[in-house]
Amino acid sequence: MTTQKPVTRGTDTDPPLLRGPGPVTVALKVNGTTHHLDIEPRVSLLSALRDGCDLTGSKRGCDQGTCGACTVWVEGRRVLGCLTLAITCEGHEVTTVEGLADGDALHPMQQRFIDADAFQCGYCTPGQLMSAVALVREGRASDEAEIKEWMSGNLCRCAAYPHIRTAILAARDDMAAHDREHDA
Ligand code: FES
Ligand code: FES
Repeated sequence: MTTQKPVTRGTDTDPPLLRGPGPVTVALKVNGTTHHLDIEPRVSLLSALRDGCDLTGSKRGCDQGTCGACTVWVEGRRVLGCLTLAITCEGHEVTTVEGLADGDALHPMQQRFIDADAFQCGYCTPGQLMSAVALVREGRASDEAEIKEWMSGNLCRCAAYPHIRTAILAARDDMAAHDREHDA
């Protein structure tokens, strides 16, 4: 049997680069707050958010990258939390659905989802919202067909799809004003 040697940084005095497989401290910045978590490197971002940060808005529908219920942003880009290792997010801004509202003021996309009845059970909704806001910022909400295509990674068993598209179209213009205000 061979023993794996730890990778070193080049000199004998440098600490080994290997972290884990036991728990290691990972600093995760989520919605502007840094959480120091003792987790194994194998832990997904989704698990770290839900179990370590007590942010249970992000949902686990499949844990294998097919449903989109776990969609969050890393540096403003949408990613699947179940397929992202928490440790790889150190030093990056993570945003979850809990970070969308501005205090008591809902994000325009959240308000439009309510206005358009764009959810029923609500389980897919956090992921839908995170995808929808990113979709508009990506410039991929020009019409229903484009929205349908670029929201296709977010499944909804309650079949709220037509209402979700209505909400996104309505939120698109609100968001231009909202983002201008927040960037000012
Ligand atoms: S839980 Fe991540 S894609 Fe389904
Ligand atoms: S609202 Fe129930 S799964 Fe989408």
